[in-house]
Amino acid sequence: MASDQIYIFDTTLRDGEQVPGCKLDTEQKVIIARELERLNVDVIEAGFPVSSPGDFKSVEEICKAVKTPIICGLSRAVENDIKVAAEALKYATRPRIHTGIGTSDLHIFDKLNSTREKIIERAIGAVKYAKSFVEDVEFYAEDAGRTENEYLAKVIEAAIAAGATVVNIPDTTGYCLPAEYGEKIKFLKENVKNIHKAVIATHCHNDLGLATANSIAGIQNGARQIECTINGIGERAGNTSLEEVVMIMRQHPYMNLHNNINTKLLYPMSQLVSEKMGVNVQPNKAIVGANAFAHSSGIHQDGVIKKREVYEIMDPKDVGVEQSLIVLTARSGRAALAYKAKQIGFNVTKKELDILYKKFLTLADKMKEVGEEALYQLCVTNLARVPSSSH
Ligand code: KIV
Ligand code: ZN
Repeated sequence: MASDQIYIFDTTLRDGEQVPGCKLDTEQKVIIARELERLNVDVIEAGFPVSSPGDFKSVEEICKAVKTPIICGLSRAVENDIKVAAEALKYATRPRIHTGIGTSDLHIFDKLNSTREKIIERAIGAVKYAKSFVEDVEFYAEDAGRTENEYLAKVIEAAIAAGATVVNIPDTTGYCLPAEYGEKIKFLKENVKNIHKAVIATHCHNDLGLATANSIAGIQNGARQIECTINGIGERAGNTSLEEVVMIMRQHPYMNLHNNINTKLLYPMSQLVSEKMGVNVQPNKAIVGANAFAHSSGIHQDGVIKKREVYEIMDPKDVGVEQSLIVLTARSGRAALAYKAKQIGFNVTKKELDILYKKFLTLADKMKEVGEEALYQLCVTNLARVPSSSH
């Protein structure tokens, strides 16, 4: 059976850049957008043009510099926002306006001081107005995660009837459980008459650490676009992490869902975004963290040295990481010590290893990690010889 394509919509430059301290200037945004194009994302959400002249300029420059992906600009369901977004997108080869409004009771009654009926009218008006500028209009139902499904279905049906080509179902506050979010997408597939005329998008936040799981539940139930960011950067606890959803599809081919991402660029892309935004990637971050392919306990090291797959489900090269790492700590075993000693030119006998290992443990208990230099000194001192190959 042919597999279905999942469109990857990257919002690093919009939802990701909203984070305090992550602000990028136009030049930095264009550099990242060019790399996102090389990564082969389907859509780049380049910014929120009405929010500031700087963001307007960035969207405009990205449209000039990047030609293959769709370039998307965010707006509220406000005429001026939509008009400004359309202006910022005028150089885009494939422009998309992303417009929408809150649909949960909290948004309707407490934030917008409105009614359910009026929100539907505003949704229709916003989509129709955006359609007067561009063909490709994405509608978001903000806080869809906490919106009652029957009402959400009415809003989505109206947005599609007004011309929306993509309907985005954000779990804005990261509230849903995977089964609940999956059910929501299924409900829309089954209850919105015209749903076949639009692509359903997931847009999940990570407040409970469930953004990736929820996005996957979404595509397993019929969504065909995932909105995500590099390193999962985004408001509060962040957005769905691009590298995670992409590798999940790749590692589980039976899901019959694929994407066009060049996975070998995932790690360099993560490093670029981290450097430009000045935000470190947490070491244990899946796929791109410094420890994602590092092994430090003796049992794991022994397994990985025998066969990498014993403790790794992915080849680090597939995500652009050169190699797996064996890190020497007080939890490491003899196999790892012999392996690392060999790497720096000391081929040790079993007897030598016994001596070396005792000394190593004493040293390792004092250090967080025994690096190459310390290991070299340990070998020279205790083996009374220099390495057999150049160090
Ligand atoms: O989280 C959210 O609801 C959003 C919308 C603006 C799409 O970012
Ligand atoms: Zn968001």
